[in-house]
Amino acid sequence: MKRKKIILRNNKKIKVLYILRYTNTKFSGFTGNEVGDWMKQREQWTSKIGFVLAAAGSAIGLGAIWKFPYMAGTNGGSVFVLLFIICTLIIGLPILLAEFVIGRRGKSDAVTSLKKLAPGRKWHWMGWMGLGSSFILLSFYSVVGGWILSYLVRAIFFKLDITDHSELFNSIIANPLEVLIGQAVFMVLTIWIVQSGIRGGIERASRVMMPLLFVFFILLAIRSLTLDGAMEGIRFLFVPDWSYLTGKTLLMALGQAFFSLSVGVTAMMTYASYLQKEERLGQSAFNVSILNIVISLLAGIVIFPAVFALGQSPAEGPGLIFVVLPAIFNEIPFGALFIIVFFILLLFATLTSSISMLEIVVSTGIRNKYERRKRAAWMFGILIFIVGIPSALSFGLLADVKMPGGGTIFDFADMLTSRIGLPIGALLISIFAGYVLTTAETDDELRMHPLLNRSWKFIVRFIAPIAIVIIFIASFIM
Ligand code: PHE
Repeated sequence: MKRKKIILRNNKKIKVLYILRYTNTKFSGFTGNEVGDWMKQREQWTSKIGFVLAAAGSAIGLGAIWKFPYMAGTNGGSVFVLLFIICTLIIGLPILLAEFVIGRRGKSDAVTSLKKLAPGRKWHWMGWMGLGSSFILLSFYSVVGGWILSYLVRAIFFKLDITDHSELFNSIIANPLEVLIGQAVFMVLTIWIVQSGIRGGIERASRVMMPLLFVFFILLAIRSLTLDGAMEGIRFLFVPDWSYLTGKTLLMALGQAFFSLSVGVTAMMTYASYLQKEERLGQSAFNVSILNIVISLLAGIVIFPAVFALGQSPAEGPGLIFVVLPAIFNEIPFGALFIIVFFILLLFATLTSSISMLEIVVSTGIRNKYERRKRAAWMFGILIFIVGIPSALSFGLLADVKMPGGGTIFDFADMLTSRIGLPIGALLISIFAGYVLTTAETDDELRMHPLLNRSWKFIVRFIAPIAIVIIFIASFIM
C-alpha cells in the first residue's frame, strides 16, 4: 500500500519524498527484492544527486559558516586553520567514508545496521551513542538557529545599519524571551520538515540555495578584502603563529573537522543506508570534504579582513559572524535588502543540518516502528528544545553559571560533543570499519582503485585511531 503511494507520487513527479518515504516503508514487510526494485526506481530520478545533496546539506551549515570563524578567531587563526585542513583530509575524510561504507552495508538505522554487521556484539551501542551526541548537538545548534531567526526578523522589520553590532548581539542573546522563542521556532521548523516528509524537496531546493549562498560569500569576500586594513585579517588567517600549536588547539581543530563534516554521530551512516550500490562512495566523501573546507575558508576570508578593518576583536566568540556580517552589509549598496536574502540562505543551510541531527534521533529512537515517526519527531524535538533551554539562557539569565571546563552551559554542551562525543564516536567508527568489517566487505563497498582501497584501510586501522587517541591525550598535557 505504502509502496503504491510512492510510485504514484513518483509518477506525479513529486520526487520529494524519497528519504522519509523510504525510511517509512523500508521495513514494513517488503521482501529484499521489492526493496531492491524500489531502489532501482528511485535511481530513475535524482537519487545520486539526492544523496550528495543530503550529505552536503548535513555537512555544510553552522559548522563552516558560524563555528569555524569563531573557533579560528579564539584559537590564534592560522595554526588552527592549518590543523583543521589536515584533520579534515587525513582523519575526517576517511572516517566519513567509513560511515558511508558501514551505512550502505547495513541499510538501516545505525543501531540496526551495527547489529546486523556485528551480530551478538556490543557495537550497536555506538549507534545509541550517536543518538546521544546528536541530541546534545541539536540542543545548542537550535539556539544558534534561533539567533539567525532573530536577525532575519530584525533585518526584515527594522534596520540593521546601526553602529554598535556587538551591543545588538549581546542584547539579543541576553533576552530570555527572544532566544527561547527563536529556538522554539527553529525547532518547530526542523520537526516539521522531518515529520512531514518534505525534506527531499528541501534538499533539492538547496541545489539553488547553496550555490546562491556561495555567490553571496564570494561577493562579501571581495567587499571585505577591499576594506582598508583588510590584509591584516588575511595574515591572521594564513601566516602561522606557532605559539598556538598546542594539544588543545589540535583537539579543537579535530573536533571542528568532525563537527563540520557531521562525522562521529552516525548521521552520515544513516544517510548512506538509503543508497544504492552504484554510488561511488569515495567520490562523494571527497566532494563533501573539499566543499566543506572551501566554505570554511571562504567564511574566514569574509570575516577576518572585516574584523581587523573595522577594529573588532577576532576572539569575539560565538557572536563573531553576527557582529561582523551586518557591518559588512552596511558597506554594500542595497545592503539592507541583501542581508535579508543572506539570512534566509543561512537559515536554509542550518536547517539542512539540523534535520539530519533530528533524523538520527528519530530513526534510531523508533527503530523499525515507522508508524511512530510523526509522534517521535515531535516528542524528541520538544525534548531537545527543553534540554537546550539552559544553553539558550547561557548568555543572559544563566551567564554566571560556570560548568566544568570553565565555560557557560552552552560551551559545555559544545565541549561534550565536539571535543568528547564526536572524537570518541569517530574513533569507534574507524575501528569498526578497520577491524570488524573484512577487507572483502569494505572493498566491495568502496570499489575504488586497489591502492586507494588499501590506503583507506590503513588509515582507518592505524592512522586515524592512533591520531585521535594521541590528540585526546595531548589536549590534557600540552
Ligand atoms: N555538520 C553540521 C554543520 O556544520 C553539523 C552537524 C554535526 C550535523 C553532526 C549533523 C551531525 O553545521
